[in-house]
Amino acid sequence: MSMDNELPLRPHQAGMTQLVLPNDTNQLGNLLGGQLMHWIDLVAAIAAARHSHRVCVTASVDDLNFIHPIKVGEVVTLLASVNRVFRTSMEIGVKVLSENLLTGTVKHANTAYLTFVALDANGTPMQVSQIQFETEEEQRRFQDAMSRRELRLARRKKY
Ligand SMILES: CC(C)(COP(=O)(O)OP(=O)(O)OC[C@H]1O[C@@H](n2cnc3c(N)ncnc32)[C@H](O)[C@@H]1OP(=O)(O)O)[C@@H](O)C(=O)NCCC(=O)NCCS
Repeated sequence: MSMDNELPLRPHQAGMTQLVLPNDTNQLGNLLGGQLMHWIDLVAAIAAARHSHRVCVTASVDDLNFIHPIKVGEVVTLLASVNRVFRTSMEIGVKVLSENLLTGTVKHANTAYLTFVALDANGTPMQVSQIQFETEEEQRRFQDAMSRRELRLARRKKY
């Protein structure tokens, strides 16, 4: 049976690989934070839309910490997964890995948590179907997502 039409990813996941080019970097040859944020937003949006089959918008991005610089010529791999569906919103976790192709060294550069909301044809938030998580890792992410949601909604109330 042909597998040509099957993605090597689960339906609530997305992946992206980027080569860091000079135009993506600052004067020190380090990847710009804004460029990385753009890739994080895109890969998370794809995971949200792949699961919900809807256009999804970014409602919030949790704190982002840049743990170590990513240099020009390195490869950045972003892995996104829906951690939990609430009602119309979803938490997406994005793991960012940087890779030096010459040495083979891979570093965990960043983890980001974003909330996306699925919209209907009128632009109104609409309910998203739940996901049956299978692995222990997925269960842990599902549990942890609730306390992060409480924190971000409490923060939102202050604005
Ligand atoms: C996100 C947006 C659709 C929410 O609309 P809203 O009228 O506030 O709708 P609701 O209050 O019903 O919230 C809808 C869901 O979003 C969640 N939400 C809203 N703001 C949030 C925030 N800052 N952080 C996390 N979740 C948020 C709510 O908790 C709710 O989730 P639930 O249904 O799973 O419980 C709306 O604020 C919007 O369109 N924002 C602009 C989005 C955009 O343009 N993004 C691009 C980046 S600028």
